[in-house]
Amino acid sequence: MVEASRANVNMKNIYLIGFMGTGKTSVARELAKQKEMTFVDLDDLMEIKEGLAITEIFAQKGETYFRDSEKKILVGVSRNDFQIISCGGGIVMDKDNIALMKNTGIMVCLSARPEVILTRTKNYGHRPLLNVDNPVNKIKELLKERSHFYALADYNIDTSDISLKEVVKKVSELIV
Ligand code: S3P
Repeated sequence: MVEASRANVNMKNIYLIGFMGTGKTSVARELAKQKEMTFVDLDDLMEIKEGLAITEIFAQKGETYFRDSEKKILVGVSRNDFQIISCGGGIVMDKDNIALMKNTGIMVCLSARPEVILTRTKNYGHRPLLNVDNPVNKIKELLKERSHFYALADYNIDTSDISLKEVVKKVSELIV
């Protein structure tokens, strides 16, 4: 029964979680358009709220401040329904965030191999955690630290070898 395995997201939210460079924002934007749902990007909301770019928030206020702010933004967003929400890659490290996402929607994790993540992120300087001498090692280290959190998602889609269009289709098929 295909239907039984699908998630009923009527009036609920889809949280796209997963590591940087797995395509969350592009997928969320496209899927929201197709499904006529609201597109939300938590990093964008943070930048608007703070009046600073993510790299500046990390540099000027620190990661702990960033995580607190990210948590508050999630609380606000979770009060609304029918949204496709692209979450920052580290949002899963807080158990309250996980509980909130589970209670107010479904969590779909996008994943990719470290080398693919490196290729997709290397030309962009806006990810402070990867602005280091050896980004591929950093990616592997963070993936190791976070893999058990990402495993808490309701669904996982490996995006390494498939196009954006195919990822959108796969997520779309999860939705009633
Ligand atoms: C982070 C991921 C970023 C952003 C911040 C921290 C992380 O979002 O929230 O740089 O800890 O993995 P994306 O996953 O959308 O790049």
